[in-house]
Amino acid sequence: MKKLNFGIIGCGRIAYKHAEAIKNNEKANLLYVCDIIEERAVDYKNKYEAEEYFIDYHEMLDMPDLDVVNICTPSGMHAEMGIAAAKAGKHVIVEKPMALSLKDADDLINACDDNGVKLAVCFQNRFNPPVQKLRKALEEGRFGKLTHGSAVVRWFRPQKYYDQAAWRGTRAMDGGCLMNQAIHNIDLLQWMMGPVESVFGYTATNLRKIEAEDIGVAVLKFKNGALGVIEASTTIYPENLEESLAIFGEKGTVVLGGIAVNKIETWKFADSQEENEDLKKHQQDVPNVYGFGHNALIDDFIQAVLNDRNPYIDGREGRKALEVVLSIYQAANTRKESRYPLL
Ligand SMILES: NC(=O)c1ccc[n+]([C@@H]2O[C@H](COP(=O)([O-])OP(=O)(O)OC[C@H]3O[C@@H](n4cnc5c(N)ncnc54)[C@H](O)[C@@H]3O)[C@@H](O)[C@H]2O)c1
Repeated sequence: MKKLNFGIIGCGRIAYKHAEAIKNNEKANLLYVCDIIEERAVDYKNKYEAEEYFIDYHEMLDMPDLDVVNICTPSGMHAEMGIAAAKAGKHVIVEKPMALSLKDADDLINACDDNGVKLAVCFQNRFNPPVQKLRKALEEGRFGKLTHGSAVVRWFRPQKYYDQAAWRGTRAMDGGCLMNQAIHNIDLLQWMMGPVESVFGYTATNLRKIEAEDIGVAVLKFKNGALGVIEASTTIYPENLEESLAIFGEKGTVVLGGIAVNKIETWKFADSQEENEDLKKHQQDVPNVYGFGHNALIDDFIQAVLNDRNPYIDGREGRKALEVVLSIYQAANTRKESRYPLL
C-alpha cells in the first residue's frame, strides 16, 4: 500500500493533533518533525516515533522522501513556509489562518498551483458531525430562503495564555480573537450563508494586555440577501462558554452549540421531523475546543493526493474566512462598511 511521508514544522500546542492523526492513519507515516526549539523537536520525534528531527525547516524540505508538510508554526510564518514547501515539491497542510493578509494567502495558493502540489487549510470543524449534518440539510435546500445566521465564540484565554509565547496576540504574527479563535466559526458561517457582500465591525482590547483584539463584533450582508452576526471574545469569565452557529431560513432553524460547535441545540425543519436518537448520533463530546476534525481532514488530504483531486478545504476555501476577518479589521479601522472583494 502506498503511504505518504509527513513532516511537521512547529512542535507546539496544536501539532500533536497532526501527529496523532498521521499516526492513526494507515496511509500515512510521520517521517520528520521540525522546531527551532530543539527540545520540542526531540520530544516530538521520540513521542511519535519520527525518523529524524530538524531545527532548520529548509533542511527538512530538502529531504527527497518527504511528501507532505504540516505547518503548525505561528500564523505570520505560514505563507512563507508554505511557499518554500511548494517550491520544494511538497504538498501542504497549513494551520488556520493560512496567512495574515490576502496577498500572502494568494501567493501561497499560487505557489501550490504553480508547483503542482495540494494545499489544505485546517478548518477541522467543517468535519464535525453536527456541522456535516447541517451542511447536508442546506445543500438539500431544506431551509428554503435563508434569512440570517450568527457565529458566536465566547471563550476564555487568560493573560498567561498570551504570555506563553511572544507571537501571541501580535498583529504581525497572530491577530486577536477574530483571527485566531473565531475564524473557525466565521468560516462555518460564511460556508453556510456566503458569499459575503459587505461587513461592518468593531474590535476592542478590553481585558488582555495584547496588541490585537480580545473582543470583536460584526454584522454581515450576504449576496443572497441574508444577514449575519459575529460575536467573538477570549475574555469570558471564568472558562470557555460556547462556540455556536445558528442558521435560520423560511422552513428551517438549526442551532449548533457546545464549546466547539459539537452539539445540536435546535433542529427544526418543515419537511420532516428527525428522531431525537438520530440527532444524538451526530453529537460529540469533545475534550477541548480542537475537537476530532484533524483526523478526517488529514484522511481527506491523503485521498486528495492519492486520487489527484482537490482537498475538501483547499486554499481558495481557506481564504474566504481570512477575507471576512480582514474585512472586519478594515471596517473597524476605517469606521466604514467593507465591501467585497477586499482590495
Ligand atoms: N486548528 C486549530 O484548532 C488550532 C488550534 C490551535 C492553534 N492553531 C494554529 O496553529 C498554529 C500554531 O499554534 P500553537 O498554539 O501550536 O503555537 P505554539 O507556539 O504552541 O507552537 C508553535 C511552534 O512553532 C515553533 N516555531 C516557531 N518558528 C519556527 C521556525 N522558524 N521553524 C520551526 N518551528 C518554529 C515554535 O518553537 C513552537 O514550538 C497557529 O497558526 C494557530 O493559529 C490551530
